[in-house]
This record gives sequence, structure tokens and C-alpha cells, in this order.
Amino acid sequence: MSGIVFFRTRQLEKLSDFYTGEIKCDIWMDQGDCMIFRHGNFLFGFCKGDKAEIDGILTFFFRKKEEIDDYYEKFKSTAEAPPRDNPRFPIYNFFARDPEGRKIEFQQFDPPVSEYLCGDELLLGRRSIRKFDPTDVPDETIEKILNTCRFAPTSRNTQAYYFRFAKDKEVLKRLSEIRGKSSEPIAKAPMAVAICSDPELSKRHIQDGCIAAYHFMLTAFFFGLGTCWIAAMDRDNVKQMLGIPLSHYVTTVTPLGYPYKIPRAPERKEIDWFVREY
Ligand SMILES: Cc1cc2nc3c(=O)[nH]c(=O)nc-3n(C[C@H](O)[C@H](O)[C@H](O)COP(=O)(O)O)c2cc1C
Repeated sequence: MSGIVFFRTRQLEKLSDFYTGEIKCDIWMDQGDCMIFRHGNFLFGFCKGDKAEIDGILTFFFRKKEEIDDYYEKFKSTAEAPPRDNPRFPIYNFFARDPEGRKIEFQQFDPPVSEYLCGDELLLGRRSIRKFDPTDVPDETIEKILNTCRFAPTSRNTQAYYFRFAKDKEVLKRLSEIRGKSSEPIAKAPMAVAICSDPELSKRHIQDGCIAAYHFMLTAFFFGLGTCWIAAMDRDNVKQMLGIPLSHYVTTVTPLGYPYKIPRAPERKEIDWFVREY
């Protein structure tokens, strides 16, 4: 399901430059006399007309207060006042104007709410996170993630995978030391999750576990959390630490928490590389 909010404008080109250049929106669709912009999953459009519709407020929300502060620096000249905590809702926000005088708002929910990500933003934006905020992950968020993870595909729908959570600081530290630098991120997060699978339940338990782990990572990102695939954790000492039967497979043990920062994507090869001719 989706929708678009439209406004009439007398300055389509100017607005296009503003919303793409200054607010970093994408052009979702250019129909000539109407242009539709996308900010995350927020779709809004402007159509050429002989009068500008400037009522209402276009609100853009972000995960961190610093992002609001950065936008304030940019839009100081049209801002009504500096960003402030508004305990009534509660949010951190300020208002400014677009070039046609339309009110625009930059806000952060407190506590932070993760943006609703579109499918491609989810797939393109997920990163391996190796440094985390110390904030605990609420139980309700974990429950939402797990509910989504019930829908990972499995061989013959065996559903042979499961999750083992670790929060104990000492356990996290020991897990992080298992593979030196490669496993270090585990101790930097408030918790870790082993994604495991049971060979008794599925002949394809390794594939089942890997897919479930990636499903978990994408869902976690959707809810604003960071993960990192830590490989080669299918080891007896890991299983002993986490109470996992030795015959089961540990796909990965990922750290889990709110990212300290989402890094830029490491460089990717061009499409040609990924398509092979026979
Ligand atoms: C099978 C696999 C094993 C990985 N092992 C580790 C690891 O042991 N430690 C680590 O920090 N990152 C590990 N990574 C994360 C990769 O380094 C990362 O996915 C890659 O650099 C691309 O970055 P991105 O995930 O941010 O797009 C692993 C990823 C995969 C898929």
C-alpha cells in the first residue's frame, strides 16, 4: 500500500532543485508538469498550476538529533527558531520554509523511531555494524523481529532454525575473543544472537540457517538495529558457552544493537561482474 500528497506550485523547477539538492530527496517520478519526490517512504508531489498551495506542513523525520541540528545549520535563514525538545509529543524539531514559503519540519522522535524504509533502501542501506550505542534493545522490538523471522524460507518448510540470545557481558567478551579482530564487534554491542539450525530437522539445515540469519539481519535493520555477520563461529566452545547442542550448526553469531554510526557502503563491483556467460 502506498500514497502521495500533492501540492500545486508556480515554481516546479525551483522546488525540484530544493527538495533534491537541499533535502536529498530522490525524484520518484517525473511526469513533466508534475514531479513526485521520495524521502524514505514519504512520497509527495508538486504539479504546475497558476497558484501555489502552501498550507500544511511537510515533515521529514530522522533517527538522530544531530541530523536535525545539521539541517538547522543549513536552514537557519528561514527557520522559525532553533531546534528544541517538545515534551508534548515528545519530539525534537524545528520549522523552516521551502522556496515557495511552504512550511517544512525537521524532527526526531524521542525515543528515536526508525524510519520506515522502502524495500530498496532496506537492501541498499544495510551495513555491517561493528560499533554500537550502549542503549538496550527493547523486548517489543526483539519480538517484532522474531515474528518477521518466522517467515524465512526453509527447505520443505522444515523451519529448522532458531535463535539463541546472549546479553551477559562476560559471555559477550569471551565470544568476541574467539576469532580475534574478526569477532571483536560482539563485545561492542549490548547483546549477541547466534542463529542456529538443527540437522535432525532438515537435510538442508546449513542453507536454512544462513537464509534465516540474513532474514534476521535485514529485519533488524528495518527496526533500526545493526548487525554484523561473524563467520566461523560453528565451534564447540561457542556452543558450550551458549548452551547449544554440539550437533547443531551455528550459522553466525551477530552482535545486535543500535548502530553508533552507519558507515558508508564499501565499494561494490559493477553489474557485469555478477553476470557470467557460459
Ligand atoms: C559469510 C560472511 C562472513 C563474514 N565474516 C565477518 C567477520 O568474521 N567479521 C566481520 O567483522 N565481518 C564479517 N563479515 C562482514 C563483511 O565484511 C561485510 O559484509 C562486507 O565487508 C560488506 O560490507 P557491508 O556488509 O557493510 O555491505 C562477513 C560477511 C559474510 C557474508
